[in-house]
Parts: sequence; C-alpha cells; structure tokens
Amino acid sequence: MTFKTHTCGQLRTQDAGKSVTLAGWVHRRRDHGGLVFIDLRDRWGITQVVFNPDTSPEAHTAARDLRAEYVVKVIGVVRCRPTGLENPDLATGEIEVVAKEAEILNPAKTPPFYINEDVPVDEALRLRYRYLDLRRQRMQSNLVLRHKVVKYIRDFLSDEGFIEVETPILFKSTPEGARDYLVPSRVHPGNFYALPQSPQQLKQLLMVAGYERYFQIARCFRDEDQRGDRQPEFTQLDLEMSFVDREDVIDTIERLYTAIAEQISDKKLLFKPFKRLSHHEAMERFGTDRPDMRFGMELADISDIAAGSDFRVFSQTVADGGTVKGLNAQGCGVYSRKQVDELAALVQEFDAKGLAWLALDEKGDVRSSFAKFLTDEQVQAIIKRLDGQPGDLLLFVADRPQITNEALSRLRATLGDRLGLRNPDVLALCWVVDFPFVEWNEEEQRWDPSHHLFTAPMDEDIPLLDANPGQARGKQYDLVCNGHEIAGGSIRIHRRELQEQVFSLIGLTIEDARDQFGHMLEAFEYGTPPHGGIATGIDRWVMLLADEPNIREVIAFPKSQSAADLMANTPSPVTDEQLKTLHLKLDL
Ligand code: AMO
Ligand code: AMP
Repeated sequence: MTFKTHTCGQLRTQDAGKSVTLAGWVHRRRDHGGLVFIDLRDRWGITQVVFNPDTSPEAHTAARDLRAEYVVKVIGVVRCRPTGLENPDLATGEIEVVAKEAEILNPAKTPPFYINEDVPVDEALRLRYRYLDLRRQRMQSNLVLRHKVVKYIRDFLSDEGFIEVETPILFKSTPEGARDYLVPSRVHPGNFYALPQSPQQLKQLLMVAGYERYFQIARCFRDEDQRGDRQPEFTQLDLEMSFVDREDVIDTIERLYTAIAEQISDKKLLFKPFKRLSHHEAMERFGTDRPDMRFGMELADISDIAAGSDFRVFSQTVADGGTVKGLNAQGCGVYSRKQVDELAALVQEFDAKGLAWLALDEKGDVRSSFAKFLTDEQVQAIIKRLDGQPGDLLLFVADRPQITNEALSRLRATLGDRLGLRNPDVLALCWVVDFPFVEWNEEEQRWDPSHHLFTAPMDEDIPLLDANPGQARGKQYDLVCNGHEIAGGSIRIHRRELQEQVFSLIGLTIEDARDQFGHMLEAFEYGTPPHGGIATGIDRWVMLLADEPNIREVIAFPKSQSAADLMANTPSPVTDEQLKTLHLKLDL
C-alpha cells in the first residue's frame, strides 16, 4: 500500500530493523530542542515517531510544521526504545519509528476541543463537530464494541437458521405508541408514507410467507420526547419465529445475550439463568416494570397497618382506594432534615404529595414525621415490615397505586446511586412476564394495548376480553437490564376473528381497522402459522456494555435532545419549489 505498510497499533519489538510506512493523524507533538517526537494515531492505535535533525534533516524540517490533527505519512525504521523509556500504557510502547521521510498529506485547523484527552466537552459542541468527537478514543471503542455486538448477533442467529430480511422504510403507520414520522408522496398528492416505528407488521407477514425464522438489524423511527435512552431513530434487533411459544423466543434471546455479555464484555452476569418476575410482582416489589435488580431495597406495602392509624394522610389514602408503601434506606438514619426534604422534593416531581419518614438512631430510638399519630404497636409493626434496624431511614408515600409506585421506584433508583449500590461491572438481566393485556386510558376513556395491537392474550384469559378486559393477561415479555427495558416481544394473534375482537376492544371501528390493517386481516386468512417474536434495543444494550450514561454515546450521528442534527443543521426548511412538488402548503 502506498500510504501504510502497518497500522499505528501494530509494531512490536520483533519488528525492530524493519523499514515501514505509517500514515495517520498527529495525536501529540513534543519538541525536545533537537529531537521532535510525534504520536501518530490511526484507528488501531498510536506509534511514536522520532525526528532527528542530524540524521534526517528534511524529515525534521517537515516535522517542525506539524500540529495536532495534521494528516501525515511517515517512512522510517523501527527500533526498540532505550531501556527505561518504554511506555507501558501503549501497545506499541516498546518501539518507536525513526523517521527518514515525512509528508504532510493535509493540515488541520485547531480543533474546538481536545481530541487527545478525555476531558468533559459541552455536548452541543461535540454534536456540532461529531466527526472530530468520533476521533476520540472513547467514541472509537464504543463504535467498535457496537460493531462486535451486531456481528455477533448476525453470526449467532445465522447459525441457528435465521435469515436477515430487509423491510421497507417507506411504509404505513405501524403503531407502537409514539407519533409517526411522515413522508409526503409526490406521486399520490395528499398521501403519506410513515417511517416504521418498528417492522412489526412486516415481520409477521414474513411469517405468513413461510420464512419461520427471520431477523433484521432494523432502524426504527418514533416521534416522541427524548430521554437519555431514547432517540427518534434507533436500532433494534428485530426477530420473529413461527411455531413457537414464549419459552422458545425467550430461550433464543437469553442464550444470545448471555453469550454477548460473556464473550464481548468483561461484565458479570448477576443472574444465570436470567431472573423472571411477573409484571405484578415487579410492580409490588420495585414499583416499576423495569427494576434495577442489582440491589435490594424492595418496596413494602404497609396499607393494612396504615388503614387503622390516626395519621390521616395514611388512613384517608387507604380509605380512598390508594396504597401506602415504603422502602428502607439502610444506614441513612443520620440524614438531616434538609437531606430528607431533598428526597421529598424528588418524589414530588413524580406527583407524590409528600414523603413520610421514620429514622432509627443507633440505639433504635425513633424520630419521625408521623409516628406521633400512631400507636407504639403500629410503629413497631411498620419497622418490622421494612426490617428497620438501628441507623436506618424508612421512607413512605401514600397515594394512588400508580403514583406511589412511580415515586418510590424513582426514589429507590436515586438512593441506589447515592449509596453506591448500582455496581457498573454487573449486568442484572430479568424477564418480566404476565403483563396485563390492556391498560385503561383515563384521558381517552378507552383500553390501550399494554404492548401493541398484535399481541395475543393468554388463551385462558380470552373469555375475559368481553367480561373484564382489565383482568386479562397478555402473552408479552420484556427484558430488563440494570433498570432499562432492553427488549420487548410477544406471541402474536394469528387468527382473524381474535385480531378483530382486539381491534374492537381498543376502540377501532371495523372500518378503521380494515382501512389501517386490512392487509394483516386478509393475510390471516391464508394460512398463518402460530408465531411470536421480540425486538431488542441495540443502542441501549451497547450503552450498558460500554458503561455509558446515554445512548447518544454509542450512536455515530445521534440527534440532540430536541431531535435535531446539530452538525448538518437539520431539520431545515425546504424550497417553495419542493413544497409545491409535494402538493404541500405550510401553515406556521
Ligand atoms: P418495543 O416498542 O418494546 O417493541 O421496542 C423494543 C425495544 O426497542 C428499544 N426502544 C428504543 N431504543 C431507543 N430509542 C427509542 N426511542 C426506543 N424505543 C424502543 C427498547 C425496547 O425494549 N415491535 C415490537 C417488538 C415485538 O413485539 O417484537 C417493538 O418495537 O429497548
Ligand atoms: P403534614 O401533616 O402535611 O405536615 O405531613 C406530615 C408528613 O407527611 C410530612 O413528612 C409530609 O411530607 C408527609 N406526607 C404528606 N402527604 C403525604 C403522602 N401522600 N404520602 C407520604 N407522605 C406524605
């Protein structure tokens, strides 16, 4: 090759004496009076290059002009570094290349932030100059990790008889609970494609088509509010299988994810096999269907004790159908009023009205915001229920079950962080199963599918769909890791009658259902096998493997918090001509 005989991460002591050509970026330049040292970087590593004015004056002159991030080609000879001058932090640290010739292939402006140091940089600036940000070591190792994960998935599933099939990006709305991104059609004035929120319908149609084992590394598009683990476009491993039940799908993903964790990361799996929780149990014990299982601090229900107390906040809540639950922040009995007030402010962000507390000092004596309203027996019963020991702080929320659970699960997560209970070296994977089939939507006064429209109800719960839908359970499963939902799937409905019944349960008229999903209903009449599948969030999984706080760190070109690309500056206006071609008029 004209530009390189070796990469910058390749040379070792056994290469000493070889004539080599390297090319890359100037990572660092040090001028030691006479000698100039360059750390030359490419994707594979860093090699030190020495320029000596006595032996190679021309190369040395060229080296004087080099600045950080210049692109250069160097021809030279490998030699072992003198004893004591090796760099153990560098894979190539035992050698250096003595430059004979150097050529500047392209100069570079001074970058807006350090590329050779892992220092905090404003994220907007990083996104604006993403191509420079991606040069940084941390980002490169994230993208390499991501590549390894995706390659592993492709190899593993191919070996198990799955084939990867691409499905269209210009399609029809497939509701997954978010808003659609729409694309206007030029050819069909007034009509739109929707970018898929997932390939859900298409993978089911591939099952109708007889492919039996399909997967895809699929891009999905959802117009929803951004969070640390949400992007408007993200990537799923999307998978579907025919003639299977829940255990077959779970087993496939569990083996795949165990292998990835063990072979590609050095993290430890806390549960082997993965833990299983019913949705009900997850809500009772952790207040959320995506619990961080790396630590305990489980919620305890004290509604029965609270009901008979003279503390109105408690007794009235129970009388009104609410719950009183609490958790034990072990060893936090010494928290000051101010610290407890901060925790109260946190739960109030999640709509709780307050945070009742009970602290046990080292002698076991009680300090509390509510104990004075309770009998001694009630106080002792509560302490016992939460296994309160001297030095502990017990915290309680009384509210509608939904608010109590949400507030306490957030509090639990915050305390878990604060008390150092969320060990970053551990992956706690847990299946959540037996979800309710539908959830009541207060605002719209109707049932919403708790997963999506195509999920099957439990066979034995089908009769409940008419009588008591809220009690029916769905054949749905989620995979949770360290407090994040990293996958969701289900066994699907494969008969037209049941699918129509579900459409009508969630309030779709027959006309709407045929209009939106006629192709699915029709397909179900041509011999559809029982089938089911799952989709895993690749970005979230790689984020967890890479120890990153948000998925933007594992996506090459992510959108900002406000769903914009700050580098290309988009979304951006289009010309009147373009709008006209698309038969669109703006109404801003
Ligand atoms: P679901 O909607 O649960 O299921 O999505 C599957 C997984 O995709 C990830 N995910 C996201 N990751 C990043 N940004 C987002 N905005 C985002 N939304 C979802 C999560 C989630 O668990 N069609 C069904 C799957 C099926 O039934 O087979 C589906 O898409 O990790
Ligand atoms: P108050 O009588 O309003 O001063 O409340 C006494 C204590 O109960 C304070 O510690 C409040 O934060 C707490 N509190 C008030 N409402 C609730 C609630 N819904 N759940 C839990 N604690 C509450």
